[in-house]
Amino acid sequence: MEKDFTLLMARDQAMIEERLGEIFSKETHYADLQEAMEYSLLAGGKRIRPVLTLETCRMCGGSLQAALPFACGVEMIHTYSLIHDDLPAMDNDDLRRGRPTNHVVYGEATAILAGDGLLTAAFEQLAGAELPAERVVTAVACLARCAGPAGMVGGQALDMAGEGHALTRKELELLQSLKTGALISAAARLGAIAAGADEGKLRQIDRYAQALGRAFQVRDDMLDVTSSAEELGKNVGSDQVNGKSTFVTALGLEGCAALVEQLTREAVDALEGFEQPEFHIWLAHKMAGRTK
Ligand code: IPE
Ligand code: IPE
Ligand code: MG
Ligand code: MG
Ligand code: MG
Repeated sequence: MEKDFTLLMARDQAMIEERLGEIFSKETHYADLQEAMEYSLLAGGKRIRPVLTLETCRMCGGSLQAALPFACGVEMIHTYSLIHDDLPAMDNDDLRRGRPTNHVVYGEATAILAGDGLLTAAFEQLAGAELPAERVVTAVACLARCAGPAGMVGGQALDMAGEGHALTRKELELLQSLKTGALISAAARLGAIAAGADEGKLRQIDRYAQALGRAFQVRDDMLDVTSSAEELGKNVGSDQVNGKSTFVTALGLEGCAALVEQLTREAVDALEGFEQPEFHIWLAHKMAGRTK
C-alpha cells in the first residue's frame, strides 16, 4: 500500500504557518495594511505551493529550512493573487478561505494595497534566504517570470478577456497553464534551486509540476460545479456567473475526471530516477482526488 504522508505534510504546514506569522510582526505598518495582509495570509489555505517548495528541496538533497524563505515567498504571491482575483473588478467573490473576502472586510483600496504589499514583500523573503547568492538570484528571476506577465498575471489577463466567450481547448490549456500552472511550477522549481539541483533534475521537476498544476486547475473547475461553499471555503458557481470558459464547459465532468487521471500519470512518470519520489507521487494522487 502507498505510504500516507498526511503527517509529514502537516509538519511542513506548521513550519510554514509559523514563519508566515512572523513576517509582518516585527515592523511598523501603516493604517490597517498589516491587518489586511495577515487576514488573508494567515487564514489557512492548503499551503500546497510552499509544501511543494520544501519537499522538492528535500527530494533534491537539500534541507527544509534552506527552502523556507522561498516557500513563504511563493505563498505570499499566491495569497496576493487570491485577494486580487476576488475583487469586484475580477471574479467578484465574497468568500475565501472560509472568511469574507479581503475587500469585503477592508474595502477595495486596502485589499488592492494588501495584495501589492504581499507581492512586494515576497521578494524580500527570497532575497533574505541564507543560500549562495547565485541560487537566490536564480530563484528571484524564476519567481518574477512565473508570477508576472509571462506567467500568472498573463493567465489572469487571458481569463478576464475570455469572459463571455467560448474558448477552444487550446486557448484554455494556455490560460490555465499560465494562471495556475506557472506558480505551481515556480514553487517546485524554487525548491530544486534551493537544493542546487542540476539542469536535468530541474527539467524533470518542471514536467512534474506542469502536469500537477494543470490537474490542479481542472479539479478546481470541477469543484466550482460539484462542491459547496461550506466544503471549499470559497464561492461555488462563480465561473458560470462570470461566463468563464473552463474545462467543465469544454469537456464535461467525466472528461475532466479522465484528464485529471491522465495528467496525474504524467506527473508521476516525470519523477523517474529520483531516489525518493514517494511524497511527490502521493501528493499528485492526493490533489487528483481532492475535495477542497
Ligand atoms: C486557489 O488555489 C486558486 C487556484 C489557482 C485554483 P488553492 O486551491 O491552492 O487555494 P488555497 O491556498 O488552498 O486557499
Ligand atoms: C484563480 O483562478 C487563479 C489565480 C491566479 C488566483 P480561479 O479564479 O479559478 O480561482 P478561485 O476558484 O477563485 O480560487
Ligand atoms: Mg479567477
Ligand atoms: Mg476566482
Ligand atoms: Mg476556480
